[in-house]
Amino acid sequence: MPVLAMERLVKLIRSEIRSEKPYLVGETGERDCKLNQNECPFDLPHEIKSELLTRFEQIPFNRYPASQPFELMSVLEQHHKLQEGSVLVGNGSNDLTQTLALCFVSTGTRVVLPRPMFALYESVVRMHSGEIVPIAPLKSLDFDIDRIIEAASDPNVALTIVASPNNPTGLSVSFDAIERLCKSSPGFVVIDEAYHEFCPNPSSISLLDKYPNLIVMRTFSKAFGLAGIRIGYLLGHSRVMSEILKARLPFMVDRFSEITAIALVKRPDVIAERVQLLKQGTAHLTDELKSQPGVSVIPSTTNFVLFRTEMNGGTLAEKLTQKGVVVRKLSSYPELNGYLRVSSGTESENKAFITALKLVLKVDA
Ligand SMILES: Cc1ncc(COP(=O)(O)O)c(C=O)c1O
Repeated sequence: MPVLAMERLVKLIRSEIRSEKPYLVGETGERDCKLNQNECPFDLPHEIKSELLTRFEQIPFNRYPASQPFELMSVLEQHHKLQEGSVLVGNGSNDLTQTLALCFVSTGTRVVLPRPMFALYESVVRMHSGEIVPIAPLKSLDFDIDRIIEAASDPNVALTIVASPNNPTGLSVSFDAIERLCKSSPGFVVIDEAYHEFCPNPSSISLLDKYPNLIVMRTFSKAFGLAGIRIGYLLGHSRVMSEILKARLPFMVDRFSEITAIALVKRPDVIAERVQLLKQGTAHLTDELKSQPGVSVIPSTTNFVLFRTEMNGGTLAEKLTQKGVVVRKLSSYPELNGYLRVSSGTESENKAFITALKLVLKVDA
């Protein structure tokens, strides 16, 4: 096809989409120590996996699943002691972010997004032609909650999104501050609790009864270790959820994912054990990093740690990759210049990271 004809065709794609950068994490080698995506480093115990595979064999592949995963929705409502209709399940929480944007954001809609925060939110708001109201962090990299509340109090703001605990900083907002935010916001407040299980603060879920403008988002990708299965969910007032449900495409959650998530909700022992191990791993990584000369560390309430050395962040990440340890570069966040993010892995992965870091810093110090 001639170049000009192709250019004309591509311009039919909305400019808001064309001007985005694709979300690329970068492939890792099979033998790499992969500490760049805040995943759980432990696969499901073999006994649960083989039980699930036996059930999978009985599923007719030729039939659609339910239009929405009603069984899982009901299991989650009971698990969180919420009334019927309070939960919506998506194909990972990213999928639900898109749904929220579809519901709340159109041309010029004002959305308060503190920085630096999980970048997908900004991208999705831009793609729906919304207007981002960014809120700069405090020096400590904590969210500036007073400024967030002030911005969210504007009656023209439809939506405020706060990840607590936050990615990529690992910091969290206090329960009281979240309540103040819900109380003073005429619009909706979404609290993304992707890393809640690792954090000592109480969940915002207990505020749902009091604040119908609050929506809480959760995922099975982190503490539950199901990043490859793709399940996330929203919790909110049933009246609000019944409207958002209309924006959910049918059949987005397949039966296997639904069955797997239900099996894990019923095994809190497995989750608790992993969370305990990952919390220990994060504390160990923090202590090791702090003991290195010239390294500063942000205190984490998650399963990952944000840190900075005297070396350029990109250069350090490259050198670690050459040693088989993959961490997350954060060059797209101007506030995090020089910082890298490392996920808590298995004991041996954490050890491999610390060994590689010491080698790199000594060689180049
Ligand atoms: C704060 C936050 N929210 C949501 C997600 C996406 O989760 P999911 O795998 O459920 O799409 C991530 C993933 O890293 C995250 O860090």
